[in-house]
Amino acid sequence: MQGKCMIRFGVLGAGRIARTFSEAMHGTEGVLYAVASRDGLKAAAFKEDFQFEVAYGSYEAMLKDPLVDCVYIATPHAFHYEQMLASIEHGKAILCEKAFTLNRHQAEIVFARAKAKGVFVMEAMWSRFLPVLREAITHVEAGTLGDLTHFEANFSFKADHKLSDQSRLFNLALGGGALLDIGIYPINFAHVFLGLPKHVDATVTRHHTGADLSEVITFQYDKATARLTAGFDSEAPIEATLYGTKGKLHMPLFWALEKAILYDMDDTVVDVIEQPHRINGFEYQIEDVIACLQAGKLESLVMPHQTTLDMLGLMDGLRAAWDLKYPGESFFE
Ligand SMILES: NC(=O)c1ccc[n+]([C@@H]2O[C@H](COP(=O)([O-])OP(=O)(O)OC[C@H]3O[C@@H](n4cnc5c(N)ncnc54)[C@H](OP(=O)(O)O)[C@@H]3O)[C@@H](O)[C@H]2O)c1
Repeated sequence: MQGKCMIRFGVLGAGRIARTFSEAMHGTEGVLYAVASRDGLKAAAFKEDFQFEVAYGSYEAMLKDPLVDCVYIATPHAFHYEQMLASIEHGKAILCEKAFTLNRHQAEIVFARAKAKGVFVMEAMWSRFLPVLREAITHVEAGTLGDLTHFEANFSFKADHKLSDQSRLFNLALGGGALLDIGIYPINFAHVFLGLPKHVDATVTRHHTGADLSEVITFQYDKATARLTAGFDSEAPIEATLYGTKGKLHMPLFWALEKAILYDMDDTVVDVIEQPHRINGFEYQIEDVIACLQAGKLESLVMPHQTTLDMLGLMDGLRAAWDLKYPGESFFE
């Protein structure tokens, strides 16, 4: 492991996104140390696929391993809360997939326990770490677009025809619904550029499981508006555009941003910010986690705890308006 930073990661849940994470880890200084699955054979196969050092047939067994420094939680949202609390109990740093928890209250408890234990925690909102977005933010802050007036973003794909009611996208017991899965991206991007809205409105359609199938959300700010859409029921283009008094910034495939185009008021391209992912885009958030752990920080400046709380608070408010509760959920706005 010479040349590596020796921060050993343990992947909790050997599913789809765990594969993306593990692939990205190979291009960072972090050590792909352990993988845990509820199924020992699945863990062993995953270990071979990505050259982990150890495979565990239970999550608890991995958390007991003193060599694991940081746990990457890659299970459906509904399990994140309990799994983070267990990780904190074992003194592990945490990178947890989005949505961080089902609601703001759960996140408050996680952060309070992590702080008490002196443990680093971050929501894996990977898009915020992408170099093209960081450069776009610099442009916007420098006034390239003038005063910001409007933000539009859509994240949709069609899944309702092919996935069962038991899939994590539609099963409420797993935290199903478009808002927590993909609506979270337009909401995060609106927050990156415009901060927290003063007023929120939304309409929703429901899947027959009760999960939100699609939503149209409007945010109102002092001098700007945002219109955000998300859904599992259409193939509408995944893109975002930020408008200002001097031009606009177009971000195709914004959640995985590799290219952003700046236009002036005559619709002439004035700059193209482009940087293909070095691996798959997850490497940038992993590098931030490693830097934070090496510096002894308990939270990231790019994805601080307050941002996670603010985003969950907005989503709680939307779900409250839609009367959409997850099973057993006793607290939300
Ligand atoms: N950042 C991104 O771009 C991105 C993309 C997709 C998903 N995600 C997030 O990543 C998380 C996982 O998504 P995914 O698509 O990877 O999910 P997934 O493949 O359906 O499940 C991931 C793993 O969670 C465990 N799991 C699944 N169903 C479970 C159940 N009913 N009870 C207990 N554990 C269960 C399983 O691990 P074992 O069988 O190995 O124990 C499974 O392999 C979600 O929170 C999602 O929002 C993020």
